[in-house]
Amino acid sequence: MAMEPVIYGTSERPPRGDYSRAGADYTCAQDYAGYGQEDHQSYRRLYARQQALLPGRASDEFLRALPSLGASDRIPRFEEINDRLWRATRWEIVGVPGLIPEVPFFSLLAQRRFPVTDWIRTPQEFDYIVEPDVFHDLFGHVPLLFNPVYADHMQAYGLGGLKAHRCGACEMLSRLYWYTIEFGLMRQPDGMRAYGAGILSSPGELRYAVESSEPRRLPFDIERVMRTRYKIDSFQQIYFVIESVEELFEKTAADFTPIYERLRRLPEFSPDGSPLRTAAAAS
Ligand code: PHE
Ligand code: FE
Repeated sequence: MAMEPVIYGTSERPPRGDYSRAGADYTCAQDYAGYGQEDHQSYRRLYARQQALLPGRASDEFLRALPSLGASDRIPRFEEINDRLWRATRWEIVGVPGLIPEVPFFSLLAQRRFPVTDWIRTPQEFDYIVEPDVFHDLFGHVPLLFNPVYADHMQAYGLGGLKAHRCGACEMLSRLYWYTIEFGLMRQPDGMRAYGAGILSSPGELRYAVESSEPRRLPFDIERVMRTRYKIDSFQQIYFVIESVEELFEKTAADFTPIYERLRRLPEFSPDGSPLRTAAAAS
C-alpha cells in the first residue's frame, strides 16, 4: 500500500481548489450540492477505516470528542457541526477552497474560526492525498476543537502566528504546528497515543507513529521543536511527546519573541533529529 502522508502545498505546484469562490478572507460556502454520491461514499469509507484504528492509538480527548463531528455515513454539513461546536467552545468552522496563505490562516484562528477545505479526494487518492481535503480537516482537526483547553490553544496559536509574521519567524512557528497540531503524540497512563491531525487521518502513519520502533519519540521541548526541520512527503522520523493538553497550552504560553531571537543564531536539526551546521532560518 502507498504511504498516506498529507503533503502541504509546494511552491512548484499551485494549490488545488477554485479560489474564485473565496472572499477576501479566503472563506467560501461549503459547496454541499457539489458533492456526488461517490464523494459521500469516500468520506464514509475513510471515516470507517480510520475509526477502526483509533482504539489504543488515539488520545482519550480525541476519542471523547469524535462523536461530536456527527454524520459519518456522508460528508457532514459545516452548519450541523457548528451548532454543536459553537455551544461547546465558541469556535466555528468555515469553508475554504484549499490551502490558504499564512496571514489569513492565522487571522481566522485568532478569531476562533477554523478553515476546512470543502472538497474531498478522488477514489484514486484514497490512500495518498497531496494536500488536506475535507476528510483530513474535519476528522483530523475538528474533534479537538470541542476540547476547551485545546480550543484556547488553537486561538493562541493564531495570535502567535500573526506575531511571528511580524517577527519574521513563521518558519520556526510552523515547525511547532507541524510537530504538535499535525504530528503530535501524547503519553497517557495506558500508553502512547496520537493527537495530531496528520497522524489521526492517516491509516499508515497512525500505526507507525504509535507502534513502530523506527521513529524517535522525544519529550516535547519548544526550542528543540522550533529548530527541527520537517519532511512533508514521508512518515516522520521524529515525534515530540506531550504528557497532556495542559502541558502544550502552558509551554506555549510564554512570549516567543526572545526565543525567536535566540534560536535564529543556533544550529538546526534535520528531520531525522541529527544536528545540522546551519542556523535556524528566518522566514
Ligand atoms: N506564546 C506564543 C507567542 O508569544 C504564541 C503561541 C501560543 C504559539 C500557542 C503557539 C501556540 O508567540
Ligand atoms: Fe492539517
